[in-house]
Amino acid sequence: MGEAKALKDTLGRPLRDLRISVTDLCNFRCVYCMPKEIFGRGYRFLPKADLLTYEELERVVRVFVGLGAEKVRLTGGEPLMRRELETLVAKLAAIEDLDLTLTTNGSVLAEKAQALKDAGLKRITVSLDSLDDEVFRRMNDVDFPVDTVIRAMDRAHEVGLRPVKVNMVVRRGMNEDSIVPMAAFFRERGYILRFIEYMDVGHTNGWRMDDVVPAKEIVRRVNDAFPIEPVAPNYTGEVAERWRYTDGRGEIGVIASVTQAFCKDCTRARLSAEGKLYTCLFATEGTDLRALLRGGASDDEVAARIAGVWSGRTDRYSEVRSENTIPLKKIEMSYIGG
Ligand code: GTP
Ligand code: 5AD
Ligand code: SF4
Ligand code: SF4
Repeated sequence: MGEAKALKDTLGRPLRDLRISVTDLCNFRCVYCMPKEIFGRGYRFLPKADLLTYEELERVVRVFVGLGAEKVRLTGGEPLMRRELETLVAKLAAIEDLDLTLTTNGSVLAEKAQALKDAGLKRITVSLDSLDDEVFRRMNDVDFPVDTVIRAMDRAHEVGLRPVKVNMVVRRGMNEDSIVPMAAFFRERGYILRFIEYMDVGHTNGWRMDDVVPAKEIVRRVNDAFPIEPVAPNYTGEVAERWRYTDGRGEIGVIASVTQAFCKDCTRARLSAEGKLYTCLFATEGTDLRALLRGGASDDEVAARIAGVWSGRTDRYSEVRSENTIPLKKIEMSYIGG
């Protein structure tokens, strides 16, 4: 085991985090992630039989932990669209020393929060792009009201899923006016708001550099309203750059994946709902682990495959993005998860 934990990729990066998409379904159609024109009636989502079962997921997570993974984040699509997700949470929560968390759109979280907490989930991240009901409904594009999401966060906090973190994707001309109101609201609530630069994931969102509000500008806007100062990261490779309010009212994070790439310390592996392993959010090809899991491979054989992929890893997409190397066949965010 000790030796296995020394697993590093070609740039010396260990495997520390595993992000698992448990379903490619989502009840929202966020314009930057699952635009309706593409993800409409005719879109073919993964058939149920193709999804890794909870037993398979538990097994594969244990293998990843043996290779050094310390954190697992469940994502989607919308992870709470998968039936009885708390059953999976309970299996994973039983694994020692694992930081287990979940990213959700909050639409059904109010009803699920207690069951997730009881199953052993520790903390949660909820995506919310605006407090302005009209803007939010336009961005989720299914006319979903903002109140329900706020209520869900409050419920999660109340049952002890803490800290509650809030992810806001900032897109120029769409929700940039929500930056300061979001900061004002969540510093009162005590939830950690993180602003995310809009990224060129997948191909369906029609991303343009002009749509990005750079982290520097976000920080400036917040600072003009409520003075902030930088805080040291919680751990090496933390995605969000931390800032705290100088009046002591909590902190925010800024995720500058476009303007200040953080590939150098990227320790994240990603598993799609059908069991393909990807070593970058912007990958074009994955490695099929499901075939191994279902084909009678031993845990050691599965571990050896993962270790082989990881030790050959060269990914640093965000750092080279500007070098005009945008690949032709990137996978979609709803498939690979945030
Ligand atoms: P904690 O520190 O555990 O709370 O999580 P985190 O900071 O990793 O946050 P989270 O997993 O919620 O990620 C927030 C967002 O950052 C994601 O939704 C993505 O938009 C972006 N992000 C996370 N990981 C990567 C990555 O490896 N590459 C890029 N380019 N973006 C990422
Ligand atoms: N750029 C940045 N963040 C994105 N997310 C989805 N698509 C994008 C994108 N193109 C965010 C979601 C959620 C997390 C899983 O990823 O809003 O907070
Ligand atoms: Fe669904 Fe999240 Fe994508 Fe929005 S960003 S469509 S909530 S998976
Ligand atoms: Fe990691 Fe790829 Fe994101 Fe860079 S672009 S931080 S390598 S996932």
